[in-house]
Formats: sequence, C-alpha cells, structure tokens
Amino acid sequence: MQTISNHSQTFRATYGPSKPVDITAIKKKIQEQLDLYDKVNAKSGAENKAAVSTIPLGVHSSFQSFDPWPISMTSAKGAWVTNVDGRKMLDLSMGFGAMLVGHLNPDVTEELKKILDVGTLFTSPSPISRDAAEILCRRFGIDQIRFTNSGTESTLYAIRTAAAYTKKDGIAKIEGGYHGSGGPLMVSTKPPLDKIGSPEDPTPYVPPTSVAGEVHVVPYNNAESLERLFKKHASTISCLIMEPVMENIGIVVPDEGYLERVRELCDEYGVLLVFDEVKTGLTAGPQGAAQRLGVTPDLICLAKSIGGGVPLAAFGGKNEYMAAVSDGRMNHLGTFNGHLLGMAAVKVIDRIATPEKLAECESYNLQALNRIGEIIKEYELPAHSVGFGVKGCTTWSEKPVRNYRDYKATDFDIAELSFLWSINHDIMTPPGLDEQWLISFAHGQAEIDFQVEDFRNFAKYLRS
Ligand SMILES: Cc1ncc(COP(=O)(O)O)c(C=O)c1O
Repeated sequence: MQTISNHSQTFRATYGPSKPVDITAIKKKIQEQLDLYDKVNAKSGAENKAAVSTIPLGVHSSFQSFDPWPISMTSAKGAWVTNVDGRKMLDLSMGFGAMLVGHLNPDVTEELKKILDVGTLFTSPSPISRDAAEILCRRFGIDQIRFTNSGTESTLYAIRTAAAYTKKDGIAKIEGGYHGSGGPLMVSTKPPLDKIGSPEDPTPYVPPTSVAGEVHVVPYNNAESLERLFKKHASTISCLIMEPVMENIGIVVPDEGYLERVRELCDEYGVLLVFDEVKTGLTAGPQGAAQRLGVTPDLICLAKSIGGGVPLAAFGGKNEYMAAVSDGRMNHLGTFNGHLLGMAAVKVIDRIATPEKLAECESYNLQALNRIGEIIKEYELPAHSVGFGVKGCTTWSEKPVRNYRDYKATDFDIAELSFLWSINHDIMTPPGLDEQWLISFAHGQAEIDFQVEDFRNFAKYLRS
C-alpha cells in the first residue's frame, strides 16, 4: 500500500495497531465524568443559569457554549486560568491561539498601558498604525495590509478583494474548513454527512441561515478534485480560500506537494489563492505558515496571535491585488480599524515573538507530542498525534486524517470523554470534540509534565 507522507514542516505520528475500546464502557465513563462535572463545576453551572436570561446560551460566541455548561472564568495569568469554582486550570486553549504570548504577558501589558497615555482611537491615520502595518508586511512577506478587528472580517474582505480584482463572484473552499461566520464562508464548515454527496466531488452544504452565493467545495489534500472543479467553473471562481494547515477539525496537515500543486492550479486557472492564517499565523512559526511551508498565497488573512489578546486582525497581500482596495473597486471600512491598542500589540508582539522564543515553545510542543505518543503506544489506544508549530492534538483514530470525511470517521465518543475528563482534571482545551492544544510562551516544563501526566491518567482510566 502506498504511504502518503505529510509536509516535512508538519508533525504526524501513527502508532500501529490499537486495541478496541468497548463502547458500552465509554458511555458509562462519560456518565461518570458528567456526574463529576456536576460536582466540580457547580458554580459555573449556576453562573451559566444566570447568564442565559440576558445572553443567548450564556456566551458571547456560540462556539463557547457546550454541554452540560461552559466553565466560567474569573482571571488568567501566564498559562493558567482560574474559574468561578475556585479551581486553577492549565490553559491549553489560550484564547484559541490569540494568547500565544501568555495571559497578561508583562511586555504586552506594559505596552498597552503606555498607549493609554496616547489615545485609543483616532479614526485617522497615524505614524503608529503605519509602523504596525510595516511590521506585519515585513514579517509575513506581503506588500500591503489593512487592519480589521476579527478574523471573520478579514476573510470576508479578502474574498471581496479577490472578487473585485478578478471580476468574478464565485469562491471555492475546502470541505470542513472554517473561516469565520460570513455567509459564503459558512458553507460546508462542518456539514452533515448525509447532505454532502461524494467525498471526491462534494456537494456544498449551505446552512439554513446563510446567504451564500456561488460557493464550490473541494476536499483537502485532493488536487485532482480541485483541478476538476477549476476545469468546469474557473471562469466564475475568484479565489480559493483555505487554511494551509486545517486547524478547526483537530489539526490536518498537508500532504507533501499538495499546497505546491494548489498554487500551480490557481495560477493556471486564474483563481487567486487566499490563505486564512487566522489560526496558524505566528503559531506556525515566526513568519507564519505560508513562508514555513514554502507556498506563497495572493492574499493572506491574519488575526488571533498577531494581537497579543486584544481584538486585532488584518488582511493583505501583493500590491497588484490590494490595488483593488486603493482604487475603490473594493471598499474596506471600519470604525475601529487601526485602533491603538491593537497597534501597540503588533509592536510588542513583533519584539517578543522572536524565532528563538517560538523555537523553544515548539520544542516543548514536540516533547508533549512525543511523550503522549509513547502513552498511546503503551496503552494501544486508537489514536495518533498531529502537530504544527506550537500546536498539537491527539486524534482519535489509528489512521491519519487527511480531510473532513476522515475526521468524521474518528471516534467522537472517546473525544467527548477526553474533553470532559480534561475539564474535570483542571485542563482547559478549546470547546468541541476536535481538541487541540497550544504551547504558549508561558508554558514550561512543569506545564508539559502536567499535560502529559493528565493524558497518562486518562489512558489508564480508558483501559480500566
Ligand atoms: C481559520 C479561521 N478563520 C477565521 C476565523 C474567524 O476569526 P474570528 O473569530 O476572529 O472572527 C477563525 C476563528 O476561529 C478561524 O479559526
């Protein structure tokens, strides 16, 4: 059988045959963990009950809501958060990557405090926002950039820029890919399997409340499918938007050569390539995923890690495409764009996110991945490990996951048990069943040991 290797800058390790885990036993353990959840997270439950009267689901982003109820936090410092139940938890979510440099990083707070003597919002140009733009252009190897306030805005403006430049309205995206909550981009984010047709040439799934327009969907790691799509529809497709490494269905890394072929096809068919680096960005390495993986997009979307925990995002790219913004073919607007807290964050993150510091975090991440891998082997668990930059995950399938359909074939019961276990045992991972961790500037040996020991205890529990 032909083995497909992943891009050499990414990490994926499989561990050979596993022993099955009895589903009845898993269901029983899920119930055990739910009972424990009631006890150790009771005040979070009460807080959620109070919050739902004024806030839908009691959260300000539906992604923060999960069953039985989300954990309510009171403070955060370094790699740790404290919840209303008084428990200190190791944060492995780190604001979905936005807290790459750690909670209340002293360099960041100092710079943010300084800006409070200067102003918070000019809604006018400033040397401060020019400086921040120059910093990011230099780092990410792009000609021009515009600031926004969220990843959602950045991806929407990027696809509009592509439409303005190419004079085409359609877009292509990857099945299972999440790019924020804009109408066309919600198509096939996590679509139901019974509505999406063939894995090779998927049927786009438009969620009931989205206004989508022309959206085509292709599987990740399948350049042949992309070529078939472009052959038929490139005349109406402005861009392909994709995460270079998928980070919303666990972590799914590109096959060797896949992204290079995507680049060639986009060039051949006159379709712009937009990399959504909202999640990868600095978590992928000092200059982001595109440069690390060696494939240059036409437009790039940035958010989370570039802002040190304040709301900041951006989109940018080559002069030729950003000219659509300059000459008004694509009108980009926003009251808070270029707000000074964000600009201060860019400056300080640029100073502290050195290649050395990121390499140190990455080596801790590799340590976690390798030690967890040893435990997976020892307990013969149906799992494998995936990582990129400072992020990692345990995926509950023996076989590598190369696209959304593979992801849907992973074991969601064990994933749910693992998620509940982690929370009950003082570890926060992002909500949902595609748990992934981030090793921030504030995680050190003690935190890695805590994480790995927790996984060992979970493995023992699973086999008990
Ligand atoms: C890949 C990707 N793109 C876009 C977004 C949207 O970003 P935001 O939540 O800042 O709107 C997200 C959010 O998680 C994301 O993961």
